[in-house]
Amino acid sequence: MDLMQDLRRTCYCGEVTKAGETVVVGGFVQKVRNLGNLIFIDLRDRTGIVQLAFNDQTDRAIFEKATSCHSEYVLMAKGVVAERSSVNKEMKTGAFEVLVDDLRVLSKAQTPPFAITDETKTNEELRLKYRYLDLRRAPLQHNLIMRHKIALAAREYFYANNFIEIETPMMMKSTPEGARDYLIPSRVHNGKFYALPQSPQIYKQLLMVSGMDRYIQIARCFRDEDLRADRQPEFTQIDLEMSFVDQEDVMAVNEGFLKRVFKEVLDVDITLPIQRLPYQEAMERFGSDKPDLRFGYEIFDLSETVKSCGFGVFDGALEQGGTVRGIKIEGGAKFSRKEIDSLTEFVKTYRVKGLAWAKVNENGELSSSFAKFLKPETMEALLEKAGAGKGDLVLIVADADTETALNALGMLRCEVARRMDAIPEGVYKLLWVTDFPLFEYGEDDEGKKRLYAKHHPFTAPKDEDLPLFETNPIAMRAKAYDIVLNGTELGGGSIRINDAELQEKMFEALSFTPEEAQRRFGFFIDAFRYGAPPHGGMAVGLDRLVMLMTGTDNIRNVIAFPKVASSADLMSDAPAEVGGKQLEELGIAILPKE
Ligand code: AMO
Ligand code: AMP
Repeated sequence: MDLMQDLRRTCYCGEVTKAGETVVVGGFVQKVRNLGNLIFIDLRDRTGIVQLAFNDQTDRAIFEKATSCHSEYVLMAKGVVAERSSVNKEMKTGAFEVLVDDLRVLSKAQTPPFAITDETKTNEELRLKYRYLDLRRAPLQHNLIMRHKIALAAREYFYANNFIEIETPMMMKSTPEGARDYLIPSRVHNGKFYALPQSPQIYKQLLMVSGMDRYIQIARCFRDEDLRADRQPEFTQIDLEMSFVDQEDVMAVNEGFLKRVFKEVLDVDITLPIQRLPYQEAMERFGSDKPDLRFGYEIFDLSETVKSCGFGVFDGALEQGGTVRGIKIEGGAKFSRKEIDSLTEFVKTYRVKGLAWAKVNENGELSSSFAKFLKPETMEALLEKAGAGKGDLVLIVADADTETALNALGMLRCEVARRMDAIPEGVYKLLWVTDFPLFEYGEDDEGKKRLYAKHHPFTAPKDEDLPLFETNPIAMRAKAYDIVLNGTELGGGSIRINDAELQEKMFEALSFTPEEAQRRFGFFIDAFRYGAPPHGGMAVGLDRLVMLMTGTDNIRNVIAFPKVASSADLMSDAPAEVGGKQLEELGIAILPKE
């Protein structure tokens, strides 16, 4: 193997765009083309590819060395940049090549288990096992560079707005926030555990109690939850907290950030202020608390129109206190029966029993799964309410539970938009969803129904809803807001409770006994007895922001070393068993799992 010795890189491969200069480049061999008396090597680094050329003018020893090179060898080459006779318009450096007069083979490479190409058909499992090779591919490098730029823009923006970056502990007390904690056993304190933070929530609020006033952190968070395409067990938040603010202040500062990051990274102009929808309205109109506003298909209520219409499916749902709702698909009459059947199967996966449909064909003729049960005037009123004209399709869900019906239609409107090709490319529809419910129902460990915090237990109720604490807590709304981009929840936050009494009341509503609240959160509640400014903040998921800005549909594509759905790391094989000595020290014995 050669040594670098006196050779020092003068520029990146992608920067070779000026003839006549002597350059030194370093990189990986993308491809070798040996034409006998001519050799071309494509050399790749993170900026691009440049062609190295060896010909009859090349020193014979160097030429010989070039013949020995293969894919993924690591080289350094020195030479004069020349204009190429045949220009490659696909490449940034396609008009040039380096006529090599010094070549060093710095590392040989085995044939990689898959080719390092922009497009790949290699299955993801294999690529994740050799993630360091997968990361040599330009699209992944591009994503990581975008991620860096976005994080940098965040830091610059928040620093310029008087935020201070403060690190909070990775080893903390387990104070569950919704998902399961990852636990770390303590060696010194036998039988006790630290938890990895689900978010820096408690610490950032305590920093406000400390008078730090404005805090920012690009914070790693850990949640032991079921993974999806946009979730990882460890992920990163752009996390912030501010003192002496209300909801408007937090939203304004984040709007400024989003505007800046889209301009700087994508040269996209975001119009401010960003549109807002109260939670209830978002649910009613779009069947989702994170609606995608790039297309229409709004939900409308047909309950009044079809009241006692004689069609059992509609009547039944309404008699049980439920609802009949629909969406209109302009141009949807082109869907065949088979396609509508498959949409029916689709909505059924969202716990509704079926899908009723009515089509106004191009000739004005009606076909429908339920028209025969309705009086003509009811059908007419229904189509009018839907605003359905020639060529349109109306899809209707009836259900005894309004939330279920809305959710199913919310999912359906997105599915139909995909099938109708109605989602425009390159459009960024940002939206604030506000006035979230403070509580939601869930089950405790014994399966008993109880209130849970919808956001987290530190979120403040809306002032005007405070009296409902005693009478109707489930109807209370929170000073909580989410930022949504193209149907994905990008971030969320709230104004916090800054009063120990109110915080205790909150824990009480969440079925914590005073002793339990004290044991779990005592240090936190106590802090509020020593003066706490009004404060609030939010966290934007960095991984999700990068996903949306790079246009990838999988969170793994924006994380250098991600985990798969089972939370395993296929490259290092984590999690792994640990030696008996280590467990012994921790006082841990492993029980076989059923
Ligand atoms: P929340 O739990 O809503 O709020 O999280 C904020 C944002 O973090 C991202 N996110 C995730 N990204 C990838 N994988 C995951 N498993 C994952 N979970 C969450 C989302 C989400 O919108 N402490 C509060 C914020 C606050 O109130 O200031 C919090 O963590 O983009
Ligand atoms: P049926 O009476 O079961 O033959 O259904 C008549 C029509 O109503 C069919 O198009 C069904 O798909 C539709 N349907 C059944 N259940 C529902 C429901 N919960 N909401 C809307 N339409 C339904």
